[in-house]
Amino acid sequence: MHLVFAVVSYITLLSLSSALIVKSSDGTEIFATAAGNPLKPSMVFIHGFALSGIVFDGLFENRLLLGDFYLVSYDLRGHGRSGSPTSADSYSSQLFADDFDVVRKAFNLTSPVLVGWSYGASVASDIFTYLQPGAISGLISAAGIPYLGLTDVNTPLSLAYLPGLLSTDNVVLYGTSKMSFVNSLFADPAAVPVDVRWTWLGATALQLPTISQLLVARAQSAAKLYLAGSTGLPLMLLYGTADAVLQDDVITSQIAPHFIDVEVYKIEGGSHAMFYDNTTEFIRAVVGFASRISTRELTNIGE
Ligand SMILES: *[C@@H]1O[C@H](CO)[C@@H](O)[C@H](O)[C@H]1NC(C)=O
Ligand SMILES: *[C@@H]1O[C@H](CO)[C@@H](O)[C@H](O)[C@H]1NC(C)=O
Repeated sequence: MHLVFAVVSYITLLSLSSALIVKSSDGTEIFATAAGNPLKPSMVFIHGFALSGIVFDGLFENRLLLGDFYLVSYDLRGHGRSGSPTSADSYSSQLFADDFDVVRKAFNLTSPVLVGWSYGASVASDIFTYLQPGAISGLISAAGIPYLGLTDVNTPLSLAYLPGLLSTDNVVLYGTSKMSFVNSLFADPAAVPVDVRWTWLGATALQLPTISQLLVARAQSAAKLYLAGSTGLPLMLLYGTADAVLQDDVITSQIAPHFIDVEVYKIEGGSHAMFYDNTTEFIRAVVGFASRISTRELTNIGE
């Protein structure tokens, strides 16, 4: 009896996950995936630099998250299973906003919570610059960079390997830098199963250094994001205290003053990929924040 129940609920979960390829405003294909019950409040997860939404595959099977939320993620342009146009014009802030918007509309999401990890949090600036207020109901910046114009965000370690990720003429430097990058995401890379580590490394290998260069150079404005923050957009700055990649306290000191509803949640000993290494703590933080947002009245944030 118990076995039958377990099999049935497993099948139910599987049948509720779906993947889509949607076309953005410039025709670039964006790969997106969803899990859970579309009638629940939604969250959109955006992955970090050179990676892919595949990093969230484990989270998207988590029963605690699926119990209360509809989960969506997509691969940013230039990343993973989405298109990688080669011109600088194809990496404008407007297009990053449009990509989010086509995914939001394809899954019929109204005002999801945005969970932006690392570079993925920067899409918040694109969204507020180009979309209507209310496109998201709250922002969780998970070891995130909500605006790419912030200064001193990198640790000495990530500053050291960053040029190698962008190298077009030194194959050895390029390869070793990609390995250093992926290893630096985890608390203890040797303890991460090799299929996980190689999947993440494989995602970074798909991104050519010429595309990485366009992604680090793209220009943004934070004015509208900060306006939304000053008029009540809820923000959680969530990070691990042992993040080897970004200086989250430096980011917090630049972002937090622009928000009136801001919560800083530190995971003691947590890594850059805290959603992987510290899943329980991460989910506690995310569910707490998103539950608070989904029960409050929508106001005219950012208007
Ligand atoms: C979104 O809503 C439309 C119209 O109600 C429906 O046809 C479509 O299947 C929905 N898409 C998803 C992914 O639920
Ligand atoms: C987060 O994960 C790291 C690595 O496993 C661990 O050392 C640390 O204690 C964890 N933090 C919490 C609050 O569980």
